[in-house]
Amino acid sequence: MKISSFLSLSLPLALQLSAGVEAGRRPHRPQNYVPQVNLRNGTVSGKYSPEYAQDFFLGIPYAQPPVGNLRFRPPQFLNTRRNINASEYGNWCYGTGRENRDKPMSEDCLTLNVVRPVNVNQFAKLPVAVWIHGGGWSGGSGARDTYNMNNIVQQSVQMGTPIIAITINYRLGVWGFLGGREIAGTRNANNGLKDQRLALHWIQENIRAFGGDPFKVTIFGESAGGASVNWHQLAWGGRNDGLFQRAVLQSGTGMMTPITWPHTFQSTFESLATYTACTDETDRLQCMRNAPESAIWAWAQATPHYVSPMLDGDMIPEFASKLIKDGKFVRVPTIVGHNSDDGTSFTPIGSRAVNDETQLVSVMKTLFEINDNLANEIVTHYHSGISIPPEEHYAGLPLPSNIGSLFFRTSAIMTDHTFTAPRRMFAQELTSRNVPVWSYRFKCVSNGYPAHLGATHFTEIVYVLHNTDLWDPFSSSYPMNGPDRADYVALSKMMARTWIKFFVNGNPNGAAGLPHWPQYGSGANEMVFDKGAGNTVVGQDNYRAPGIQWFIDKSPRLNR
Ligand SMILES: *[C@@H]1O[C@H](CO)[C@@H](O)[C@H](O)[C@H]1NC(C)=O
Ligand SMILES: *[C@@H]1O[C@H](CO)[C@@H](O)[C@H](O)[C@H]1NC(C)=O
Repeated sequence: MKISSFLSLSLPLALQLSAGVEAGRRPHRPQNYVPQVNLRNGTVSGKYSPEYAQDFFLGIPYAQPPVGNLRFRPPQFLNTRRNINASEYGNWCYGTGRENRDKPMSEDCLTLNVVRPVNVNQFAKLPVAVWIHGGGWSGGSGARDTYNMNNIVQQSVQMGTPIIAITINYRLGVWGFLGGREIAGTRNANNGLKDQRLALHWIQENIRAFGGDPFKVTIFGESAGGASVNWHQLAWGGRNDGLFQRAVLQSGTGMMTPITWPHTFQSTFESLATYTACTDETDRLQCMRNAPESAIWAWAQATPHYVSPMLDGDMIPEFASKLIKDGKFVRVPTIVGHNSDDGTSFTPIGSRAVNDETQLVSVMKTLFEINDNLANEIVTHYHSGISIPPEEHYAGLPLPSNIGSLFFRTSAIMTDHTFTAPRRMFAQELTSRNVPVWSYRFKCVSNGYPAHLGATHFTEIVYVLHNTDLWDPFSSSYPMNGPDRADYVALSKMMARTWIKFFVNGNPNGAAGLPHWPQYGSGANEMVFDKGAGNTVVGQDNYRAPGIQWFIDKSPRLNR
C-alpha cells in the first residue's frame, strides 16, 4: 500500500447547493431572472440564487470532451461556437474515490463552475479564486458539497471586497494519469494536471466577461489539490504562463508523495490492455481508445491500482524537491500550510496497527518505499522520548483500543514525511528567494471526530470555505456543531476572510480577529489557527527539527 492510495480517503456527502440560507435575506432579482454572459463563442446562461444573491454558472465545458480518440490524450481547446445552458452541474469525472459513489459520472466531465455575486458587470474586475479539489488523483469533483463556494463569496460581499469563485473538474484515475511504456516519451502523461492547466487558460480568456480580473487569479486546493497548485508553480521548470498571481497550498505539495517514471506503472497498463482485449494490437493505446467507456470503468472498479503524477520529462521534468531547491517555480505570493494531525488519517490501525518498533520499520518501508537502513534512521529520529504529537492534544481523551500503542508516534512520522517537511522546505526556499510566503498550521479539532484523529486531514476545508452547516458522514457529525458551535463558526469566518484578503491583496492580513500574520521569513513564523478567543496565535515553525530536517535532506532518496 502506498501513501498515494491513502490520499483518496474521503467522505461522501449529499449535494446541497442551497444549504446555509440566511434567514431574512431579500432577493435582489425576480425568481425567473436568468444571468447571462456573452463569451466569444456563445452565450452562457446560468442560474440565479435568491438565497445568496448570487449567479451560478455550472458545468461550463472548458475543453473538448476527452472521449473516443481523445481519450488518454492531453485536453484539447474547444473549437465550436454554441450557447451553453449552465444551470446544473456537469458530470463528475470517473473516479474510484468513495465520494464519487452514486454520483453521475462520465468521461465527458471537463467542466468548471463559476459563482459570482449578483449585479456584477463585465468591467468589475473582481479577484478570482480557483479551487482545485483533492481526492488522491482518483476522487472528487468541483461539484462536491464540501467545496460549495456560496458562503465564501457571500463573505467577500459582506466585507465589501467581492470575489468570483470557480471550481473545476479534471480527469482522475487512469483517465487522467495512465502510465506505462506506451505513455513514456509521448505527450500523453499527466493529462489530469493538463486539464487543470487548460481550465486556467480558459479562465484567462473568458473570466473578464463574467466580471473577473484575469490578472488577479489565485489557485488554491487541498491534498492532491494542494499538490496540483504546487505542480502548476513547478510545471515545465517553473515556466510562468501568467495563469495565476497567487497560490494557496493546503495540506499538499508536489513533494507529498513519491513520484516516479511512467514505465513503473506498466502493470496497470497491461492489466487494462488485457481487460479491453488490446494486448495483441500493435498500437495498444489506440486500441484502448476504441474500447467502450463502460469497459474502462468496469476495469477501474474491479482492479486495485493507484495513480499519481509522473516524471514525464516535460510538464514534470524533475522531482519537486529538486525544482524547489533550484528555484524553478513561479514566484507569486504563496500561503502554504497543513493540519497538526494530517497524518492520523493515513496511519494504519486494526490488523495493521503499529505496536512495536519492528512493525514501525515495516510500515515505513511499505509506505515510503524505502529500505531498512532509512526506515531505521527515521525510527531513531522519532524515538519514544520525543513529544509526538503535542501531548496537550490527547491528554485524558477516550481512545479506541485498535489503534496500536505506537499510533501517535507513527502518525507524527506520517505527518512530517507527507506534510510538515515539504511545507517547511517550500516555505524556506520561497523565503530565500524573497517570494512572499505565509505558513499556517490548523490545530482545531472538529466536533464529533474520533479523539485519536485530532486536527486531521481534510478538516480545515469547511472552515476556509465557511461551509458551517455541512454534515460529515465520516464522523457522523456536523463538524462545527456542539457546545463550541459559536467558536467554530467564528474561527471559520476569520479563516474565510483571511483567505479572501489574500485573494484580494496578495497578503492575508487584515481580517477582523486575526493577529498580525508575519511572513515566514527568518523567524519561521506560522499562524496557528484554533477555535476560541485568543487561541489563534503566531507560532514558530521549529518543532521536531531533527526528524523534519532528515525528511527534507533525504527528499531525493524518498523519490519526491
Ligand atoms: C472559439 O471558437 C474558435 C473557433 O470558432 C476556436 O478557435 C477558439 O479556440 C474558441 N475559443 C474558446 C475560448 O472556446
Ligand atoms: C436549462 O436546463 C434546465 C435544467 O435542465 C432547464 O430547466 C432550463 O429550462 C434550461 N434553460 C434553457 C434556456 O434551455
